[in-house]
Amino acid sequence: MSTHIGASPDQIAPYVLLPGDPYRARWIAETFLEDPVQYNDVRGMLGYTGTFAGVRISAQGSGMGQPSMAIYAQELFSDYDVQAILRVGTCGALSERVKVRDVILGVAASTDSAMNVPRFRHVSYAPAADFELLRLAADVAEERLLPVVPGGLFSSDQFYNPDTEIAGILARYGVLGVEMEAAALYTLAAQFGRRALALCTVSDHLTTGEETSSLERQESFEDMIEVALETIVRLDANSSS
Ligand code: HPA
Repeated sequence: MSTHIGASPDQIAPYVLLPGDPYRARWIAETFLEDPVQYNDVRGMLGYTGTFAGVRISAQGSGMGQPSMAIYAQELFSDYDVQAILRVGTCGALSERVKVRDVILGVAASTDSAMNVPRFRHVSYAPAADFELLRLAADVAEERLLPVVPGGLFSSDQFYNPDTEIAGILARYGVLGVEMEAAALYTLAAQFGRRALALCTVSDHLTTGEETSSLERQESFEDMIEVALETIVRLDANSSS
């Protein structure tokens, strides 16, 4: 086991879906995976492994925010040899280019976090998604006629941001949505030479005030999980051919 995950190395698949909410990890496992087995409940951060279309896949909760998520992502890469992590979450829309229920594929993630300051000193590193995952996810969504928009995310340390102007500034520079994890995930994937992609359904709109009902949130979340799972199946097929 690693410090925060109570599993032996063979209990976790090479591909992991990483929702913030541990109950979402359980729901993903029970809804989409065949023969899911729970491997973790340390701190209630549930983790499961099963198969989807013959490919072993895990679903692991990460908690909210970059420091919590980074603990799980780092241990998955370093102690469990995980090859690809797909964060599946929600975000708030910053831009008129996206509507609630759209899925943003996070091409790159700007951040107000100081987590990368000791890592890159005076350099403002640009955390970016894995291009193959991004291309596969965009293809899958297009084939299924699902509304995905590739673009920039803002990974904020503040859900309740006292700066009321920053969202508008970032939107003017093409940033589409605000969430709380992608930048640290992309940085860790780069550190370990692995793949990562953040997929976020838009749950609320910061400029128009538009919101989703819980049923709509559930439906668009389900569509997004299906895109993420099929993306992994294609990645696995590409890497074994
Ligand atoms: N801010 C940060 N994270 C989020 C939001 C938000 O408005 N909505 C969903 N995740």
